[in-house]
Amino acid sequence: MTKKSFLWLGLWLCCLTAGVKAQQLERISPGQEWPDNKGEHINAHGGGLLFDGGKYYWYGENRPARGFTTEVGVEVYSSTDLMNWTDEGVALAVSEEAGSPIERGCIMERPKVVRNPKTGKYVMLFHLELKGQGYAAARVGFAESDSPTGPFRFIRSLRPNAGVWPADFSRKDIREAKALKEEDYKEWWTPAWREAVTKGLLLARDVPGGQMSRDMTVFVDDDGKAYHIYSAEENLTLNLAELTDDYLDYTGKYVRIAPGGQNEAPTIFKRDGTYWLITSGCTGWAPNEARMFKAESLWGPWEQLPSPFVGKDADKSFHTQGTYIFKVEGTDDGYVFMADRWNPRSLKNSRHVWLPLEFKADGTPVLRWVDSWSPRELFD
Ligand code: DGJ
Repeated sequence: MTKKSFLWLGLWLCCLTAGVKAQQLERISPGQEWPDNKGEHINAHGGGLLFDGGKYYWYGENRPARGFTTEVGVEVYSSTDLMNWTDEGVALAVSEEAGSPIERGCIMERPKVVRNPKTGKYVMLFHLELKGQGYAAARVGFAESDSPTGPFRFIRSLRPNAGVWPADFSRKDIREAKALKEEDYKEWWTPAWREAVTKGLLLARDVPGGQMSRDMTVFVDDDGKAYHIYSAEENLTLNLAELTDDYLDYTGKYVRIAPGGQNEAPTIFKRDGTYWLITSGCTGWAPNEARMFKAESLWGPWEQLPSPFVGKDADKSFHTQGTYIFKVEGTDDGYVFMADRWNPRSLKNSRHVWLPLEFKADGTPVLRWVDSWSPRELFD
């Protein structure tokens, strides 16, 4: 190649890249690569959304191309139309300090950010696993910032509600749960083991140090009260725990949802006074059939319903696992289900699957596959 043609090739490549950068997305294409303002696939997995000051912020796990640990932290993107996203950088960075709970090489998953109306601060909760311990630590991390794009300051990590029993446990329930011993139920999934788990076999084990806390979300109700919903008891039982007014601690009021039901990936929304919870089963990075629950009060009772997914591959939730549900600002009824299509060979390249929720006449949510859609359609 002559020097001149080499220069032309360079120029052409530059124009091509600039063209990609300038491209405005007009639709959301679930399962396809989703380029940000720099043309890079959005690296915000297990994410959540915040609407603040006229903009949406998408927080998620910044994952490496290879490997399973957190090397960067929680990434944040901003958008005004939900389709075109600007990378705002690292909202919460891993620490370079050896021994820090968020030391590079820890695992940060499923970050969710809410704005506290009383303090004006942005509060992030995330699932934290300590470096070198796999998924054994099962903790929740708290971080705070004055700005939605960060930097977030790591506050602490813990296991929720140490020393506290669920709100609906009577003295008798507590006595019975305390009498259960793990060594008497070595074999899992037997009817006796199930009954023991439901009565609090693992709950009681974890009361002194706090409940395990893995997959999670945060929900803020109409009255401004916030709740942390997380997989506890070796991922067998969901907990719904009320947060203090500053969203940085627990009030001590919590309930268990579907004890022994093995629910992960909780996502929740409220519509016409009913709370809907969509979860997954526990099969690692592999997809499984979603579950759904509804309740008239966050404190339950929670009624289990069939999966909201319908059509081809509904039994695998369209090869996804949910991460968040949000309402599009300004719409009457435009709810969006955010999910991950995990790629364990390259978590960075896991695809995002966002689908608009449909509703049956009785209000039951339905998730149907669409190849592409526009948030504008939700304003019709
Ligand atoms: C499923 C969870 O939902 C993910 O967030 C992640 O923790 C994987 N399990 C790890 O296997």
